[in-house]
This record gives sequence, structure tokens and C-alpha cells, in this order.
Amino acid sequence: MANITQSIDKEIVNYFCRLQMKVAFITGGAQGIGENIARLFVKHDARVVIADIQDDLGQSVCEDIGLDKATFVHCDVTIESDVENAINMTLGKYGKLDIMINNAATIDDLKPNILDNDQASFEQVMRVNVTGVFLGTKHAARAMIPGRSGNIIMMGSVSGSIGGIISHAYSSSKHAIVGLTKNTAAELGQYGIRVNCLSPHFIRSPSAIKATKDHPEKYANIYSNLKGLALSEDDVAEAALFLASDEARYMSGHNLVLDGGFTVINPAFGLFARATPME
Ligand SMILES: NC(=O)c1ccc[n+]([C@@H]2O[C@H](COP(=O)([O-])OP(=O)(O)OC[C@H]3O[C@@H](n4cnc5c(N)ncnc54)[C@H](O)[C@@H]3O)[C@@H](O)[C@H]2O)c1
Repeated sequence: MANITQSIDKEIVNYFCRLQMKVAFITGGAQGIGENIARLFVKHDARVVIADIQDDLGQSVCEDIGLDKATFVHCDVTIESDVENAINMTLGKYGKLDIMINNAATIDDLKPNILDNDQASFEQVMRVNVTGVFLGTKHAARAMIPGRSGNIIMMGSVSGSIGGIISHAYSSSKHAIVGLTKNTAAELGQYGIRVNCLSPHFIRSPSAIKATKDHPEKYANIYSNLKGLALSEDDVAEAALFLASDEARYMSGHNLVLDGGFTVINPAFGLFARATPME
């Protein structure tokens, strides 16, 4: 009986501490999805470093989580020395890096006609969403290779799999990081480092609302195949937890699309087509 109780206790501890002793670095963790990931990872006993350009917000999130478990570092992911210093700070404080979440991103104004799109805004999106992810991956790999283990997660989007749902720059950037995921997974597997991309469907977060507010008619009925469900930031954090945990130890080079079937179903046509999208 004592053995059974002990093994049940162990199962419970494992269930609630899936990232015990793990150190996670989360770019863009001062708000939104990144903040939710930070909070969930700490619940699972990880230590998190939030790297963002919003210093006051990032610091207050860390204080709210507890400064013994969360640390803020100013880091603009487009500046290599910022990324290098932030990773070095993490190594100095914790002695290792287990999990890198390349989550920081930006979005330009939605201008459906490419003729209205300008080079400067296209390049700004690519700088944050692609170069930033490249730099995060490079310096995470530098920190992880000596320990011969690690876990890198890119935050993608359904717009990295299909076209026609968001701006040209943003969609291009999210497709690009799926490529970077596959290429770095191919290289870094030899060091025991897994690289995956997590690609959520639209969430009505403040930044997403801001980006789509000029075209409410286009975003009024966002197709969801799952009755009564809308994707939340918590759902994305749970999927990131899965990818970061040992439960996903054989997954690498994967683009985990978290979309309730959005990218694989054409709602306008097919055996199960509905005349109007479900709310
Ligand atoms: N919200 C959605 O509907 C949705 C859907 C699919 C994918 N995503 C992706 O999820 C991730 C998080 O999205 P979110 O909705 O939480 O966004 P958000 O705008 O709420 O948060 C992004 C964070 O990144 C930070 N950031 C921006 N530029 C930075 C830079 N140069 N250096 C460091 N930090 C920077 C911001 O300060 C902010 O804290 C992004 O990669 C986004 O593309 C979001």
C-alpha cells in the first residue's frame, strides 16, 4: 500500500512539475502569449527569464510572479549584442539554459493591396520576426551545445502555413521561421537539442485586435471548426509546455499548428460544409 501511495504521489508531482529545475528564456514575455507561457512554466517549477523591450511591464510581471522565480532583462531581439548579453546574464545567474521561446514579434498595418505596402514596414517586421528569431536561436544554441541538450520553440502562426489571412510581411515572416525551425532542427539534433515551431490560430489579444481593427468586416466571423471554443493564450501556453517537456522528447523539426482544424479544412466547401461559420 505504501508503495502504491508513493508511486501515486510521484505521478502527481510529475504532473504538476513538468519543468522542474529547467531554465526558460522567453522573448516578448512582458505581455500576451509570452507572459502566459512564463506564468505556466513557473507553475511547473521552471525558472524564467523574460526578455523584452517593455522594461516596466516586464519587470512588473516578474515581480508579480516572484523575483525568486522570474527575472526581467531588457533585450531588443533585433540587436545581436542585446541577445548575447541577455543569454550570458541567464547563464551567469542559473549556469544553464534549457528552453528558449522565440516569441517576440511585431505586425504591420494590414494593407491588403501590395501596392500600398512599403519596404520599411516590410523590413521592420522581418527584422523582429525573422532576424530576431535567428539571433535568439543562435545564442540559445551557443548556450545549449556544451550541455548536449536543449529545447528551442519558435512562435509561429497559422499564417505560416496558409496565405490570405494577414499582412504580406507577417505571413512571409511566419513562413520563414518554419524553414528556420526545420534547418536548425536538422543541425542541432546531434547535440540533443530539439527545435519546434508552435503556430496558433488567431487570438483576440490586444495586439491582434489592434492589427485587424481597420478591417472588422474581414475578421468578424473567424472560422472555427470546434464548436463553442475560441483559442486562448492559456491554450498556447499549454501547447508550449508540452513541446518544452519530456513528453515531447521525440518531437523535433515539427510545426505544431494549434488551430482547431482551421488550416486543414475549407469551410466553404466539402462534405461537412456549413453555410455560415460557427461562432
Ligand atoms: N495574438 C494572436 O492572435 C497570435 C496568433 C498567432 C501567433 N501569434 C504569435 O504569438 C507571439 C506572441 O503574440 P502576442 O499576441 O502575445 O503579441 P503581443 O504583441 O501581445 O506581445 C509581443 C511582445 O513582444 C515584445 N516585442 C516586440 N518587439 C520586440 C523586440 N524587438 N524585442 C523584444 N521584444 C519585443 C513586445 O514588447 C510584447 O511584449 C508572436 O510571435 C505572434 O506572432 C499571435
